Amino acid sequence: MSAKFLRAAICLSQRQIIPNRFWRNRQAVNRSGQIQSRRRVTDHGEVFTAEREVKAMLDLVKQETERIESRFLEPACGNGNFLAEILRRKLDVVKSRYGNNPPDYEKYAVLAVTSIYGVDILADNVDACQNRMFGIFDDAYAANCREETSNECREAVRHILRHNILCGDALTLKTAEGNPIVFAEWSFVSGCLLKRRDFRLDQMLDGHQEQKSFFMLDWEYDEEIKAFIPLPIREFPPTHYRMVQQYD
Ligand SMILES: C[S@@+](CC[C@H](N)C(=O)[O-])C[C@H]1O[C@@H](n2cnc3c(N)ncnc32)[C@H](O)[C@@H]1O
Repeated sequence: MSAKFLRAAICLSQRQIIPNRFWRNRQAVNRSGQIQSRRRVTDHGEVFTAEREVKAMLDLVKQETERIESRFLEPACGNGNFLAEILRRKLDVVKSRYGNNPPDYEKYAVLAVTSIYGVDILADNVDACQNRMFGIFDDAYAANCREETSNECREAVRHILRHNILCGDALTLKTAEGNPIVFAEWSFVSGCLLKRRDFRLDQMLDGHQEQKSFFMLDWEYDEEIKAFIPLPIREFPPTHYRMVQQYD
């Protein structure tokens, strides 16, 4: 994120020194879709990352982007350039493993969606990101499962995206209403049953202690990250993944 802010700052300083050159640069950047408006660059440092850079950066953690359940959080996700590419990569793996089996394809494609999280301070970016992620899921789902697709599953994915891609301030860790940002953790507990547990992002970031102390009586040990994490603020009963939208 700091590189983007730096780039925005460089663009703005060029404008002050060489206005014409800046103007030409700005138009070129606009054509590639990286900037929506000068106002948004000034107010929020919004300069979207080009596809080539997104791919090159994700190649640095290629193995993780190809692990279906590996969790990603982007704290300034914009309209989802990184998250969309992560989802595409995961869905390619789902296709190569389960492409011949529509029920398994569906389950693991949903798992891929559950593992991707984003925050952005601008509500229209959040909407765009949720819709984009849904479109990527749905195109791949329709192509792989054809007449076996279900609208219930689509609704479940929309619901998951509403909980995973949130509008908030990644610096204060609060929503626009001033409430703590809360993310849902989704885990398959057996077969098609998905369990949701909600965690406060600020507590998660404070957490991850390797040693338990007197003040962490309730904290639990997480095998995956090999550290103690705070307790969830809410839990839901294991539910078929197509039905998770029944809880809100
Ligand atoms: C440089 S853009 C990057 C967008 C996207 N990650 C990409 O690479 O294409 C920075 C993004 O951060 C968002 N942003 C700025 N301040 C933020 C904050 N305090 N919390 C969350 N998002 C913020 C902006 O709305 C913008 O979408």
